[in-house]
Amino acid sequence: MKIIVTGGSGFIGSHLTDCLIERGHKVTILDIETPRYHSDAEFIRGDVTDIDLLISVFKDHEIVYHLAAEANVNRFYEKPLYSNLITSVSTLTVLEAARQTELKRVLLASTEWVYGSSDSQDEITEEIPYTVNPDHLYTSSKISAELFCKNYRSLYGVNYTIMRYGIPFGERAREETVTPIFIKKIIKGDEILIHGDGSQTRQFIYVKDLAQGNVACLKPEAENEIFNLNGREIIKIIDIVRTLEELLGKKAKIRFVEDRKGNYKGRFISSEKAERLLGWKPRYNYREAMEKYLSNYLSSK
Ligand SMILES: NC(=O)c1ccc[n+]([C@@H]2O[C@H](COP(=O)([O-])OP(=O)(O)OC[C@H]3O[C@@H](n4cnc5c(N)ncnc54)[C@H](O)[C@@H]3O)[C@@H](O)[C@H]2O)c1
Repeated sequence: MKIIVTGGSGFIGSHLTDCLIERGHKVTILDIETPRYHSDAEFIRGDVTDIDLLISVFKDHEIVYHLAAEANVNRFYEKPLYSNLITSVSTLTVLEAARQTELKRVLLASTEWVYGSSDSQDEITEEIPYTVNPDHLYTSSKISAELFCKNYRSLYGVNYTIMRYGIPFGERAREETVTPIFIKKIIKGDEILIHGDGSQTRQFIYVKDLAQGNVACLKPEAENEIFNLNGREIIKIIDIVRTLEELLGKKAKIRFVEDRKGNYKGRFISSEKAERLLGWKPRYNYREAMEKYLSNYLSSK
């Protein structure tokens, strides 16, 4: 198939592009940044809020994966107008271009943040409604992007798939994210600060597994459906350090400090629907994924 990946120069989009090409698809990356890793994809430098550009590019394609967005929540806080433009308004623009060009489907990269940050012990499935109290602009922007997909389906018949990602980690991750920070600190012997006792949990998804989950969403069964794409293990913050210590063969210097007020403890998001309908589940467990990532990380330095 002829597929566009917006944001294909980024962390997740670059892995998705790899996977699609491996499966024999013809990929066009639409991004404002030049791709650093590829490859056999065509590249169009352009802005996802440019409707005329999108219409001219979409005419020649069947599917769009819309990943371009402001993925860094701190930058969202600093530049809310621009961030919302490239996250939510861009989704509306993509949908409108898809309508005018009769594209087969828009697949949207969304986030588990749409469920909010409750400490509920219940397992979270796609049936759970959006949080009524989004505590970040990023959450509100992604919820509105999801709602636009649903509107375009009911009003104009544009097909969508919403993919709610967990916290990805792995090769090509931004250096300011938790895993590369911990790796660097352990190697250098710098102190790692942990708020509370480190028992807060997170669910991580290895980026290569996440990319395969995105590809699974191409299946017809995924049309006009929502899928959580997440890891299967609950990982304590302290477990990240312990796993790295074991793999690096070096003890970390940890300083435990007072817990942050309202530090979100984490809960379990189920990806059972993706396994049941699409046959997708993460291939690597957390330790295996970390081992692969770490060995690639160290050899790239
Ligand atoms: N990384 C995460 O923790 C995470 C978690 C859940 C969901 N997501 C979502 O996944 C998607 C991809 O995230 P990522 O981590 O790969 O981010 P990233 O920042 O690595 O990639 C985003 C890409 O979008 C491009 N882009 C930005 N503005 C653009 C514009 N106006 N026009 C065209 N391209 C533009 C950037 O150049 C970049 O290549 C985003 O939609 C993000 O919200 C990310």
